[in-house]
Amino acid sequence: MRKFEFHNPTKLIFGQGTLEALNREVPKYGKNVLLMYGGGSIKRNGLYDKVVSQLKSLGSVVTELSGVEPNPRLSTVHKGVELCREHQIDLILAVGGGSVLDCAKAVAVGAEYEGDMWDFVERKAIPQDALPLGTVLTMAATGSEMNNGSVITNEVTQEKMGWGSLYSFPAFSILDPEHTFSLPRDQTVYGMVDIMSHVLEHYFHLDSNTPVQDGFCETLLRTVIETAPKLIEDLENFELRETILYCGTMALNGMVSMGFAGDWATHNIEHAVSAVYDIPHGGGLAILFPHWMKYNLSVQPARFRQLAVNVFGIDPSGKGDEQVGLEGIEALRSFWNSIGAPNRLADYDIDDSQLQNMADKAVRFGPFGNFRKLQHEDVVQIYKMSL
Ligand code: NZQ
Ligand code: ZN
Repeated sequence: MRKFEFHNPTKLIFGQGTLEALNREVPKYGKNVLLMYGGGSIKRNGLYDKVVSQLKSLGSVVTELSGVEPNPRLSTVHKGVELCREHQIDLILAVGGGSVLDCAKAVAVGAEYEGDMWDFVERKAIPQDALPLGTVLTMAATGSEMNNGSVITNEVTQEKMGWGSLYSFPAFSILDPEHTFSLPRDQTVYGMVDIMSHVLEHYFHLDSNTPVQDGFCETLLRTVIETAPKLIEDLENFELRETILYCGTMALNGMVSMGFAGDWATHNIEHAVSAVYDIPHGGGLAILFPHWMKYNLSVQPARFRQLAVNVFGIDPSGKGDEQVGLEGIEALRSFWNSIGAPNRLADYDIDDSQLQNMADKAVRFGPFGNFRKLQHEDVVQIYKMSL
C-alpha cells in the first residue's frame, strides 16, 4: 500500500424517513437557503413539496435555482453564484442526482471567489472557501453525495471536466431509498453502470498488497450484478433500491480505495465524449470501459484474471491469464447489455467525425491514467474500437 491520510467530513444520513433530518441540519447554517434542483423530477414525485414545506416550517427564506441540466453547465453555475450574492445565501440545498449536486458544489466555491469559478476547473486557482452545502440525493450513481468531486460542462468551449477541493464535500447528505423510486429504468441502469465503473477505476491499479480493498471492490461489483436484474423489473422495491444506493455511495467516497491510486482514464475518455455529444455519463461508460480493458489487458493480465474469476465466476482451469481476463471482459459487456446499457458509440449516433477533437479534449492536461498512461493516439484507438 501507499502511505495515505483519509478524511471524509460529510455526515451521511441514510434510510427511510430521513428527510426529517433537515429539521436539525438546516438551522445550523442560517436562514437564507438556495434550493437547487433539476428539470422537474422532484416536482413530479412530490419531493419538492416535502422539502419546501419543511424549510418553510423552519422559517427559512428560500431562493430557488431550478433547471440544472444533466451534465450541468457553467452558465447555470454562474446563475447560482449570482443568486448567492444577491440573497446572501447561508446554505445551498441540492435536491437531485449527481448533476444537481455537482453544480451546487461549483456554486458553493464560486460564491466565495471573486473570479470565474471555471478557474478552479482549469487549475488556474484553488478554492479557499465555500458556502456550506447540504444534499438530498434522488439517484444512485456518482457518489457526489459523499465526495468532493464535481464535473462541469463549459458549453461555450465544449469542455467537460472534473475538479475537486477540500471545500467541496457536502456538509450533510440525506439518502432515502424511496426518493429514488421514480428514477426511470434507463437512468437506473446508467447509475448502476457508473457505480460499477467507479469500482473498476479503483480496481485497476499497480500498487501491491491491497487484499482487503480488492475484496471490498469485488463485493460491490458482485452485489450490483446480483441486484441489477431484479431492480430493473421492480423499480419501487425498497430493499433493492437501498442496496444500490448504499453501493453508489461506497463506490466513490474513498472507503474502498485507501492506499492505492486507481486508474481513472476511462472517466476522462467518457467526459470528452459527453462534452461533445451530451450523452448520459453511464451510457458512455458502458460502451467505453470494456474497450479500455481490452486495450490494456496485457499491462497486468493477472489483475484481469482475478476480476474474471472472483466477480464473474469464470472457470480458469487450463487457461492462461489473458484468456481468462478476456472472458471476464466479455462477461462484463454482456452483463451491461443484458440490463439495457448501450454497446457502441453508434447507439448514440456517434461516428468517427469527432474522434480527434474528443481525444484532444481528453489529453488536455497531458497523458493520463495510472494503470497505464494513455497518449492521444491511445485514446483515438479506444474510440475507434468503440464505434
Ligand atoms: O433533472 P431531473 O428532472 O431531476 O431529472 C434527472 C435527470 O434527467 C433524473 N432523475 C434524477 N433523480 C430522479 C430522476 N428522475 C426521476 N426520479 C428521480 N428520483 O435523472 C436524470 C439524470 O440525472 P443526473 O443527475 O444527470 O445523473 P447522475 O447522478 O448520473 O449525474 C451525472 C453527472 O455526474 C457526473 C457525470 O459526469 C454527469 O455530469 N459525475 C460526477 C461525479 C462526482 N461528482 O463524483 C463522478 C461521476 O463519475 C460522474 O462523472
Ligand atoms: Zn462516473
